[in-house]
Amino acid sequence: MSLLFSYPDYEEQAVLLAKEAGYELGAIDIHHFPDGETLLQLETDVKNRDVILFCSLNQPDSKAMTIMFFARTAKELGAKSVGLITPYLGYMRQDKRFHEGEAITSNIFAAFLSQHFDSLITVDPHLHRHKEMKEIYTIPAQVIHAADAIADWIKDNIDKPVLIGPDEESDQWVSDVAQRAGAAYTVLTKTRHGDKDVEVSVPDVDQYADHTPVLVDDIISTARTMIAAAGHLKDAGMKPPVCIGVHAVFAGDGYEALQKAGAGKIVTCNTILHPTNAIDLIRLLAEHLKEREG
Ligand code: R5P
Repeated sequence: MSLLFSYPDYEEQAVLLAKEAGYELGAIDIHHFPDGETLLQLETDVKNRDVILFCSLNQPDSKAMTIMFFARTAKELGAKSVGLITPYLGYMRQDKRFHEGEAITSNIFAAFLSQHFDSLITVDPHLHRHKEMKEIYTIPAQVIHAADAIADWIKDNIDKPVLIGPDEESDQWVSDVAQRAGAAYTVLTKTRHGDKDVEVSVPDVDQYADHTPVLVDDIISTARTMIAAAGHLKDAGMKPPVCIGVHAVFAGDGYEALQKAGAGKIVTCNTILHPTNAIDLIRLLAEHLKEREG
């Protein structure tokens, strides 16, 4: 039976995952010293065990050292394998050197995780220029998709939806969700001029005037992408859009700004804990793990 450890704050999800997937829960103590350094202690014996760390990698810089300490220590103490379940995998968006001298952090972070962990499972990573995880991960890296769960939520909650993807990358998620929900969809184009300076094309939605617009994206971070798209929908005279994101990154004032911008309802999956979590993916993850364990 695998031993599942949880990064702080995600214990409730880990308990559910362990119960559903048939894992034993391990105990870990993470202490941050006043100087910012971290002491980590595995309180459950890992010798000869398959060990898994459950840790969503939003705010990855603050977690990277700790998860590396975890993996190294588990191996030193005799763990057979050390896997990572990370419902949100950070550092996937900088998949190209956009400007001279920039680091391609998606590749560097993938190399870092591949060096310390033996396997990885995540939910809808931002695969754009990299089409598959194996292009940058050298360990088995499996992807779980949220499309079915999102489509079910839309079917149960939205009358006459029309799905709108705010940029070209979102096409892969939006088209999939739309097909599963039996809904129409359209995809816009986006130009990002800066962190909070985003321009999206004007949607052609005249034929959907009596529909409920549903914006679907993988990540909501500053929310400026959703806000720009929502602005166009308002100008087009549509109802306030339902905004659905797989990953509730919500950096800075993103959440409040999206609320103020007139979003009808803001809904996310629980890959990152946030008040907008309304679509559960932990059971989906558990089912996948159960199947994998055979
Ligand atoms: C990247 O293109 C992603 O798919 C999202 O569209 C993007 O991360 C959203 O970022 P923000 O909320 O900061 O506009």
